Amino acid sequence: MIFYFSGTGNSEWVAKKVADKLSDKAVDIISLDLAKLRGEMKIESEKYIGFVFPVYAWGVPEPMLNFVKKLKGANEETNAFTFGICTCGEDAGLAMKKLSKTYPLCSAYSIAMPNNYVIGSELESDEVVLSKIKNAESEIDKISLEISEGKKQYRVHEGSLASIKSSVVNKGFNKFARSTSPFWVIKDKCISCGLCAKGCPSKAIELENGNPVWKKGNCYQCLRCINSCPSKAIQYDKKTAGRKRYNIAKYV
Ligand SMILES: Cc1cc2nc3c(=O)[nH]c(=O)nc-3n(C[C@H](O)[C@H](O)[C@H](O)COP(=O)(O)O)c2cc1C
Ligand code: SF4
Ligand code: SF4
Repeated sequence: MIFYFSGTGNSEWVAKKVADKLSDKAVDIISLDLAKLRGEMKIESEKYIGFVFPVYAWGVPEPMLNFVKKLKGANEETNAFTFGICTCGEDAGLAMKKLSKTYPLCSAYSIAMPNNYVIGSELESDEVVLSKIKNAESEIDKISLEISEGKKQYRVHEGSLASIKSSVVNKGFNKFARSTSPFWVIKDKCISCGLCAKGCPSKAIELENGNPVWKKGNCYQCLRCINSCPSKAIQYDKKTAGRKRYNIAKYV
């Protein structure tokens, strides 16, 4: 069983491809009822247990970390080949080493995928996006083969200053940077489709008079809402006007 979390589709795409190659199943942790799953699946008899997710500030996103802790909580014995794959725009820091401390992993990988961090800078060109996706396809083939052969690997692009980024900077991100207050909507552009509210994994958004309102003070900052709004009506401070938006659905 391969568990995934994904904001803009990269990690979902990777998880489903790997699952397909391993003849296994990929499951979204956000819509997952763990208690129900436990009734249907026995961890000890799974062949593979995999976690696939985006890197957030050189760390593991909160929903994935919480899920992994819950899964580990039962402390079932497993002979499964355990692995983690993170997707990242550039580098992953020590995210996979941290995950491995919570849930021991036989193998850990990072895959460079298109950057979705539109609130930080302009996004990549279509050319760069397509080339990253193409390279990822061959990496997925290689990773899937290694996993199926039971080869233990640690192939993670940690990048520079990994230990500082994954500790101090990651803590700062989780404590201070996940506020929803910078999000706002250009009301004239909003077509009241409700996709932002429906798709938010934090359940932070509600529609009021047809427009989104961020009801929770903090969210996961997956950036699905701002990237997936069909009218580009969602903005973040003054940073995102005129910038591209990203969702893998446009490219695959
Ligand atoms: C809040 C946030 C933080 C991010 N931090 C990093 C990072 O530390 N390193 C990196 O290379 N990419 C970073 N990214 C880029 C994503 O990890 C990358 O685009 C990922 O493939 C998105 O996956 P998804 O489409 O499954 O959500 C960040 C993106 C977001 C939204
Ligand atoms: S996704 Fe965009 S257009 Fe649809 S309700 Fe939300 S802000 Fe409005
Ligand atoms: S409010 Fe937007 S960025 Fe925050 S979790 Fe929901 S969809 Fe993701």
